[in-house]
Amino acid sequence: MSELSVKHLLGIKYLTKKDIQLIFETADHFKEVINRSIKKVPSLRDITIANIFFENSTRTKLSFELAEKRLSADVINFSAAQSSVKKGETLIDTVNNILSMKVDMVVMRHPNPGAGIFLSEHIKAAIINAGDGAHEHPTQALLDSFSIREKLGDVGGKNVVIVGDILHSRVALSNIFALKLQGAQVKVCGPRTLIPKHIESLGIGVETDLRKALNWCDVANMLRIQNERMDISYFPTTREYTQQYGINKEVLNSLDKEIVIMHPGPINRGVEITSDVADSDQSIILNQVENGVAIRMAVIYLLASKIK
Ligand code: CP
Repeated sequence: MSELSVKHLLGIKYLTKKDIQLIFETADHFKEVINRSIKKVPSLRDITIANIFFENSTRTKLSFELAEKRLSADVINFSAAQSSVKKGETLIDTVNNILSMKVDMVVMRHPNPGAGIFLSEHIKAAIINAGDGAHEHPTQALLDSFSIREKLGDVGGKNVVIVGDILHSRVALSNIFALKLQGAQVKVCGPRTLIPKHIESLGIGVETDLRKALNWCDVANMLRIQNERMDISYFPTTREYTQQYGINKEVLNSLDKEIVIMHPGPINRGVEITSDVADSDQSIILNQVENGVAIRMAVIYLLASKIK
């Protein structure tokens, strides 16, 4: 039987192409399950999962919880804002206290890059990184590629541009790793100040002209500006950013071909994307959210099968 090459999902960087294929094949099955009238399977009746979120989330948190419940796992939710972290408890103490309640798997979102890696070196449970600072967001990249595969048949050979705040984006880095692994061509597009130096060393291109980037691509993944990770200004004003790097219907209609529009959410409507683009037939933004549940079911299921 096929299994993942890893015990934790800490980042796409640690996965192989075969791992991604296995996750997608498993997600295909779960997508069919969650579209049945009875959406639940008894696969993980003996598994307890803790969702511990030290940062805000809508999609990821709800999607993991739903995926866990669809698999019949026992679920506990922990939000740092209402916890004893506020009284000075450390990450390891917090997680060890949760684990002493016999938890098998931890899904964690944390503002510090590498928090999941650190945890995996200190505790026994399987760890899933649900976003660690500006580092990685592996399940987002998996659901993004799965959605491209669903829409265009394959990820390999496609041209994908990631537009916006690449510097502060965990979605960008995880997508670059995932897309490259599957044989897509990748470019990033945005103001130079929001593109990390030497990003070309990852085997991708840089384009600062949005129209050129959009005319090159099959898929444009629009990212929001991560204001919460900025302590200085990276561009003059939001209005000027939108003029140069925001996508609107006029830009979309002026292109030589029809492209697919993606966004990981949350959307800042009118900044990086206008409503008429976000809600258009070319947008697969809500398909991404729908696919998030099947992808997370697949990841949880495959990692749970490796728990001894
Ligand atoms: N895409 C994403 O991670 O969204 P949330 O922050 O709402 O989870």
